Amino acid sequence: MIKSIEWRNNKIRFLDQTRLPLEEKYVETDDPEVVAEAIRRLSIRGAPLIGIAAAYGIALAAHALISTPYSHSRSALQKVIQLFSSTRPTAVNLFWALNRQRRILESSSDKSSELLAIALLAEAMRIHEEDAAMCDRIGELGSSLMPSGAVILTHCNTGSLATGGRGTAQSIISTLWEQAKLKHVYIDETRPLFQGARLTAWELGKLGIPSTLVADNTAAFLMKKAMIHAVITGADRIALNGDVANKVGTYNLAVLASYHSLPLYVAAPTSTVDFKLEDGKNFPIEERNAREMLEVNGTRIAPPGTKVYSPAFDVTPGSLVSAIITERGILRSPYERAFDELRRDPIDVSSETA
Ligand code: MRU
Repeated sequence: MIKSIEWRNNKIRFLDQTRLPLEEKYVETDDPEVVAEAIRRLSIRGAPLIGIAAAYGIALAAHALISTPYSHSRSALQKVIQLFSSTRPTAVNLFWALNRQRRILESSSDKSSELLAIALLAEAMRIHEEDAAMCDRIGELGSSLMPSGAVILTHCNTGSLATGGRGTAQSIISTLWEQAKLKHVYIDETRPLFQGARLTAWELGKLGIPSTLVADNTAAFLMKKAMIHAVITGADRIALNGDVANKVGTYNLAVLASYHSLPLYVAAPTSTVDFKLEDGKNFPIEERNAREMLEVNGTRIAPPGTKVYSPAFDVTPGSLVSAIITERGILRSPYERAFDELRRDPIDVSSETA
């Protein structure tokens, strides 16, 4: 499995995803600013991985402060938490992970800065390991919903490059493949940054999973011709009514799937659920730089003066989501009730949102 990020010799080592698939370049750094910038420019991306990277980023900053008093570490680390909070607004996993680190920080006033750094690193590693386990469980649960000989359409990238384990939607795909239940995967190229073409096609190729790349606007035709059984995507933020923020284009797929009476499943760990938002109306939706639309590999493709609107995510209404596959079960509408039942369970579901 690809290690998108790891802690090595008191440094963070991550795969620069902007260079894939042409170059497999790993970056090693002891500078939290470099990690924050990597999140901003999508060298590190995917909702769960962003959270994991930020958690390691806080541990990195804490390691540079071990010879200072706790009060100094505390105020310095609060600023680093702020730095990571400002990187990308939509994936709630980022704020969920930062909140876990903030709690360690606030409850450590009796510790030396060295012990604080150890505790923050242990928490980052726990977040990473927990995510890997959640991915496995999502794969097991999700695969049970699919028919034998399944042909799946997926959007963006939801694999090892986006998570701490084998992925969310992609974990279901890998599990189906291992169970000999998967026939084929269609991958949306995912404009403007081509996460499907560059990353998912690369990952599925490495796993030996048969796949075909399609332009984003091909989905309706695939569905009309009965070429797929289901759409499976990941998520960046899920509201209590099942509204889902995910890579822009997911909503299009949901409308099309509904029209063609096909299921659209969303696979995500519960760290992607925003337990504070009733619906998706107030999801913070990131807008990306115009250049990402105007250029492909540094070559301009639109005339000078072209105006651009580039939301990185859209919001799919819960009413169009057939099921949300989490590590804690397969949730179905009415989602308010399903999330309420989850909330009653004695696990930590708090998240601080942007
Ligand atoms: O802008 P990105 O590449 O970070 O967007 C990623 C997605 O939209 C994924 O579908 C989502 O984060 C789920 S990944 C397990």
